[in-house]
Amino acid sequence: MTAQIERALSLLRAGELVGIPTETVYGLAADAANPQAVAKIFALKGRPADHPVIVHIAGSAQLSDWAQDIPDDAWKLAEVFWPGPLTLILKRKAHVPDAVTGGQNTVGLRAPAHPLTHELLLQFGGGLAAPSANQFGHVSPTTAQHVREEFGAALPLVLDGGPCQVGVESTIVSLVDGRPKLLRPGGISRDVIESLLGYELEHHVKASTAGIRASGLLDSHYAPRTPLWLGARAQLLEIAAEHTAANQRTALLLLGDVTNETNALMPGQYVHYLPADPEAYAQALYATLRHHDQRFDLLLLETPPRTPAWLAVHDRLQRAAIRKY
Ligand code: TXA
Ligand code: MG
Repeated sequence: MTAQIERALSLLRAGELVGIPTETVYGLAADAANPQAVAKIFALKGRPADHPVIVHIAGSAQLSDWAQDIPDDAWKLAEVFWPGPLTLILKRKAHVPDAVTGGQNTVGLRAPAHPLTHELLLQFGGGLAAPSANQFGHVSPTTAQHVREEFGAALPLVLDGGPCQVGVESTIVSLVDGRPKLLRPGGISRDVIESLLGYELEHHVKASTAGIRASGLLDSHYAPRTPLWLGARAQLLEIAAEHTAANQRTALLLLGDVTNETNALMPGQYVHYLPADPEAYAQALYATLRHHDQRFDLLLLETPPRTPAWLAVHDRLQRAAIRKY
C-alpha cells in the first residue's frame, strides 16, 4: 500500500475529507457512515443539504451493506458494469445516514474503476460518500490540480490519479418505483444498458418531471463562470465577429480539425478545437471549459452532432450553457 493511500485512510477514518480520482471525474470523499464527516462535504462544496450523494463501494459484494430489496436487474448491471461509470439508485438500508440520502428512502451506489480508489475502497472496507469535487454548480474536476484549484488548503489531501479517462460523470439508473429510469446519461451508454436489460429505460430530461431531487438534474449545472453559448459554427462565427468588433474577448470552441472557415477569423479572435470523437470529446470537455473560463468575456461552443453517442455530452452542455442557438 502506498504512503498516499495510507494517509487517505487515516484522514477518512478520522472523519476528514479526501479528494479521490475516479475514471469519470474527481470526487470529494468522506466516510459514508459518519454523518459529521458527510456534513463537511456539503459545507465545503456549498451544496444544499437535501441533495443526496453517491456512496462509492469496492464492488457488488458491498451492495447489500447499503441497499435492500435489490432487484435482479440491479445485480445484472453491477456484475457487467462494475467497477465502472454506472450509479444504481436503490432502496436504502435503514442505517444509511440521512446526510447521504438527502432524507430520501433511496441510496445511490457505484463501484469506481480507478485503480487507486479501488485499492482505497478495499482497504477502507466501508463506503465513501463522494460528489464531484467542485463548488456547487461549477464544472467538475478531471485532474488533481483542478481539485486543488477548487478548494485550496481547505482540503488536506487530494490523491493524484492522473487525468480522468472518461471525463463526464457516471450514468445514473434508478431501479426503485416501477420501470427503471435513466436519471443521468453518462460514462456507460444508454444503448448498452438497454440491450443488457432487454427493454427501454424511461428518461426525463427535467428533474421536476422525474420527481427527484438531484443536483446533476438541475437546469443550470456543470457551468463555467464565463457565459457559455452553444450554436452551429456559422452562427458562432457571426456572433464572435460582432463581439470582437465591440472589444469583447471571445473564444470559439469548435469541433474537429482546423478548417478553412476559421480563416474568416478576425485579428484577436481565438479558436480551440475539441475532438470530433464523442469519447475523446467527453474526456477533454471539462478541462477545456476550465482552461478557457475567466480568460475571455464569452465562450462560444459548437453544438456536437445529435446522435446517441453524444447523449451524455449534450446533457452536460445543455446545463452548462446559458444560451442555445
Ligand atoms: O461519476 C460520478 O458519478 C461522480 C464520481 C465522483 O463518482 N460523482 C458525481 O457526484 O457526479 P455528484 O454528487 O456530483 O452527482 C451525483 C448525482 C447528483 O445529481 C445526486 O443528486 C444524484 O447523483 N444522486 C445521488 N444519490 C441519489 C439518490 N438516492 N436518488 C437520486 N439521485 C441521487
Ligand atoms: Mg457534481
